[in-house]
Amino acid sequence: MGGLARFSVSIEKELLERLDSFLERKGYANRSEALRDFIREMLAEEELKNPNASAIAAVSIVYDHHRLELPDRLTELQHEHHKAIASTLHVHIDEHNCLEVVVLRGRAGRLARIADALIGMNGVKFGKVLLTVPGELSS
Ligand code: NI
Repeated sequence: MGGLARFSVSIEKELLERLDSFLERKGYANRSEALRDFIREMLAEEELKNPNASAIAAVSIVYDHHRLELPDRLTELQHEHHKAIASTLHVHIDEHNCLEVVVLRGRAGRLARIADALIGMNGVKFGKVLLTVPGELSS
């Protein structure tokens, strides 16, 4: 990527104060760093609307492993999509609950379908997916 470019922004004073307060709460060092993040997020979101876009995803699910057949069904689903699954992390939270983080890479549309299948599986108590583009946007 090329060097840095500068531009100025006109914004209502009250909106700027709210932004600065938000950035302070979020721990941003400065507005430029925050704006770069916001821009990357918008561009990634736009790119991921294309189901053929290259993507990477982390799918987190929490479930009770005593739930009949659920661990087997989760394993079956992951084997079915083994080419898209880069890694799986399993944490035994307590006597009942497990946290699993499944990292996927491939086409955005396919990853979204696999994520939906994991999260929507009967017995999964909590599920979140982070879907993004694999590092093509500059830092
Ligand atoms: Ni477990």
